[in-house]
Amino acid sequence: MRKKMVDRSSLPIGARVLVLFAAAFVYPRDAAPQKTPPELRENQPAETVFKNIQALKGMRAGDLQGAMSFIASSLNVDCDHCHVQDFSKDERKEKLRAREMIRMVRQINEESFAGKNTVNCFTCHQGHAEPMALAPIVPPPPRATEAAAGKPAGPPLPSVGEVLGRYVLALGGQEALDRVKSRILKTVRLDGGNSGSVTMIFQKGPGRVLRSRESPGYSLWVGSNGTHAWAEDSLKSYWGLLNTFEQHAILRDAEMYQGSRLESQYSSVKVKAAEKLQDEDTYVVSGTSPEGTSEDFYFSVETGLLLGRHIEEQTVFGAFQVRADFEDYREIGGVKMPFVVKWSSPGGAWGTRTSFKVLDVQQNENIPDEKFEGPPSKSR
Ligand code: HEC
Ligand code: HEC
Repeated sequence: MRKKMVDRSSLPIGARVLVLFAAAFVYPRDAAPQKTPPELRENQPAETVFKNIQALKGMRAGDLQGAMSFIASSLNVDCDHCHVQDFSKDERKEKLRAREMIRMVRQINEESFAGKNTVNCFTCHQGHAEPMALAPIVPPPPRATEAAAGKPAGPPLPSVGEVLGRYVLALGGQEALDRVKSRILKTVRLDGGNSGSVTMIFQKGPGRVLRSRESPGYSLWVGSNGTHAWAEDSLKSYWGLLNTFEQHAILRDAEMYQGSRLESQYSSVKVKAAEKLQDEDTYVVSGTSPEGTSEDFYFSVETGLLLGRHIEEQTVFGAFQVRADFEDYREIGGVKMPFVVKWSSPGGAWGTRTSFKVLDVQQNENIPDEKFEGPPSKSR
């Protein structure tokens, strides 16, 4: 059986799938919105960066991986369902069929849905390589909106300011948070994969971050110096571009506490609902990040702490959901932080993180600025 792959960034050498990280330097959209250099590989049309693009001509090269993650997760298959070692080859009939399907989907949307991504691979496939041929005999449960329509309205929702204010207080208060200028986290994967290999996360305000995982077989560095994000792995097994999901994940990694950019940098921020998240009552705050992801933050009604974060990444076919759960909050130097962070996404896409637990935290250590400028080969 072809299995989904969860963490492509930890593949052993010789794995069939290339790991898609990049040495290219990129300006995050919020840092230099108008000045993104057009010559960057990720901004070029996919057909000029990749070898055999026919159906997706004109798409940004940096968006290809998101599109592929969307396709793979819609069918619940891994890349090698359609691809052989050389991804440009048209050897598998599934790839040819998929290309026809891409054209079909675009045509349906063009002709019947005013060019919007209304119909996509998931609409029919719903997580199966072969879509279901028969309608189910048992009728599906009524839609949530219908069920909820008759219910009396609950108590009024608090304001954004109230929810975020309580969050900051629960973390230790603004003053305590401001005192943390830098942080070094030693983390390990929760699933025990990669036999105990450690990922170090260095953060330094504002917006600087480095994640590094160094091991004899494979090392990976991703980071941002506050202006541009970069990524590189020791195999240099990438297409020479920083994919959009990874770029966004780096911006999130740079947050000194989860959601720290919500109030100052997100647009359309509102308290959208009171909902249960894993049996806990939460207030859901939604907003759009400067990089264009739609996000929901779940704050515990009881403690005020952030319990979950749902992120919708856009692909050429539609939205792709990435989610994080935060657990085991502990206090370090007057501020609380989650010691367990669980990431999930359908099929596990690049740029999404693996679930980890924190082994050790150091705060306000002096981290040299050069560390955030690029991979060790370039900056040290
Ligand atoms: C259901 C089939 C299918 C799956 C699954 C799939 N792809 Fe693709 N992939 C395609 C098709 C079709 C194309 C060509 C698109 C075109 O013609 O524009 C393509 C093109 C590519 C290319 C461009 C290669 C080149 O140089 O021309 C890359 C890279 C790629 N896919 C990576 C991946 C990765 C990585 C995965 C796993 C997440 C994946 N794909 C999953 C069907 C698939
Ligand atoms: C309108 C419904 C519909 C949509 C939308 C759709 N498919 Fe399909 N697809 C089917 C049906 C039905 C089959 C099975 C019959 C066949 O293969 O002709 C199929 C078969 C396939 C197969 C061959 C079966 C296999 O073993 O993998 C691939 C690959 C595929 N689809 C990929 C895609 C991709 C990629 C997209 C999105 C770009 C997509 N499909 C969107 C209906 C759809």
